[in-house]
Amino acid sequence: MELNQIYESILDDLARVKDVLRSISQIDFPWLSEQLGYVVKETGKGIRPALTLLSGKLCKYDLTCLLPMAVSVELMHTATLVHDDAIDKALVRRGRPTINKMWGDDIAVLMGDYLFAKAGEFVADTQSPRAVKLFSQTLATISSGEISQFRNAFNFEQGREDYFRRIYGKTGSLFSLSTQAGAILSQAPEESVAVLKEYGDNLGIAFQIVDDILDFTSTEAAMGKPVGSDLTQGTLTLPAMLLMERYPEDNPVKRLFETRDKKNVGLAIEMVLNSSIIEECYRIASEYYDKACRNLNLLPENTSRQALSDLAEYVVKQGI
Ligand code: IPE
Ligand code: IPE
Ligand code: MG
Ligand code: MG
Repeated sequence: MELNQIYESILDDLARVKDVLRSISQIDFPWLSEQLGYVVKETGKGIRPALTLLSGKLCKYDLTCLLPMAVSVELMHTATLVHDDAIDKALVRRGRPTINKMWGDDIAVLMGDYLFAKAGEFVADTQSPRAVKLFSQTLATISSGEISQFRNAFNFEQGREDYFRRIYGKTGSLFSLSTQAGAILSQAPEESVAVLKEYGDNLGIAFQIVDDILDFTSTEAAMGKPVGSDLTQGTLTLPAMLLMERYPEDNPVKRLFETRDKKNVGLAIEMVLNSSIIEECYRIASEYYDKACRNLNLLPENTSRQALSDLAEYVVKQGI
């Protein structure tokens, strides 16, 4: 199923989210306005605002607070990408040059901060202290996930628990904010908030596992961003970790991390692709998909619930 089909019931509202996002560049500061215009022009798949709107549709759908919340999660996501690309020295994102490539790392840091601040302004517009608190906690969790990744670059003595904790931090937590805030702002019962938290936590983890797979299997043309870059950055993702587990004594990932000799990147990718590791990674992603969806049946049965289920399936089937 295509994303647009899954988003069908919220397409108009997602278009409004994009309009509001684009409006943040309309400020009386010509240079910054141009850069912000560049940032918000290409909006990506819009999964996080879609999660907020679809979750909100399960109860009292009130756009006066759901719209700013959806804008807020997408702005937070965009800010993390701007910072992530500066840290990773990535040159391409969403099929065009990154902010750090266009204007340098310093501007990327400041631009990310600006976007975080705007995200904060929009979440405040929901008038919900609970949403604001969750937003702030999520930002702290994402930061700790990214810090942990940075601190552990080129460390091959990491286990699966470290990996899952980190990807929950950097990605699962924002999926979780997106769904929970949708539920909270539509005055859903606490049981529904809990179901949507479980869905967001686990779907976010599945999403990051698949992104980590695609870094091995996909192409820059298909992804709109560089591939093979996790290994180059020294990030031990699930495919590389499984290779380490299978050949603990000697393998190209270990050699890369020990010597930083980049010729091992290609060797590691080749070895992963010639094994059953990718299949195993998709299997693990599908376990998180199962966890994400196992209690969706407790939510009201409607098209949004179906869309959440379809979106989860879309996530774990990317690249297959
Ligand atoms: C990219 O997220 C960052 C990860 C968490 C892997 P998306 O794949 O949702 O990025 P866009 O918004 O569609 O560009
Ligand atoms: C997601 O991880 C980064 C953030 C949560 C900011 P990745 O580093 O895998 O994202 P991509 O692959 O660069 O989009
Ligand atoms: Mg990255
Ligand atoms: Mg990635």
